[in-house]
Amino acid sequence: MRIAIASDHAAVALRRALAAELTAAGHEVSDHGADEGQRVDYPDYAQRVGAAVQSRDADRGVLVCGTGIGMSIAANKLAGIRAALVHDVTTARLAAQHNDANVLCLGGRVVGPIVASECVAAWLSTPFEARHQHRLDKIAALEPSTDALPGDR
Ligand code: RB5
Repeated sequence: MRIAIASDHAAVALRRALAAELTAAGHEVSDHGADEGQRVDYPDYAQRVGAAVQSRDADRGVLVCGTGIGMSIAANKLAGIRAALVHDVTTARLAAQHNDANVLCLGGRVVGPIVASECVAAWLSTPFEARHQHRLDKIAALEPSTDALPGDR
């Protein structure tokens, strides 16, 4: 799978660890920063990963900031992006199963690296259940713009 990943300054180490794990697992990872030693604004990084998913340069995205909250708020402004903030394996699994989340958001200051890693693995390995599709269609209908992705759910 092609996975775009980014973080702000609050979660550089966790992002790097997740990127390395995903690469080792055979995924094609595109790392959109941020670099160490700079204070950055998480919306800029949510936009980069969201745009990669929107353009289909990436199949999925992972965003990490201090809490994951800012990244999820920002990413969900983008048409076709379903970003889920998760804190445990159960919510990560359900984000895939019920919500078909195409972006996973994590808080590097509130979850440890093992939990974060297990969340990503659960989200990637859990299939979407089609019985929830009509709810995703209703979410898409809430988007203000009409530039939803072709063929998007
Ligand atoms: C940065 O200090 C922090 O606000 C950010 O990483 C994130 O937690 C925002 O939601």
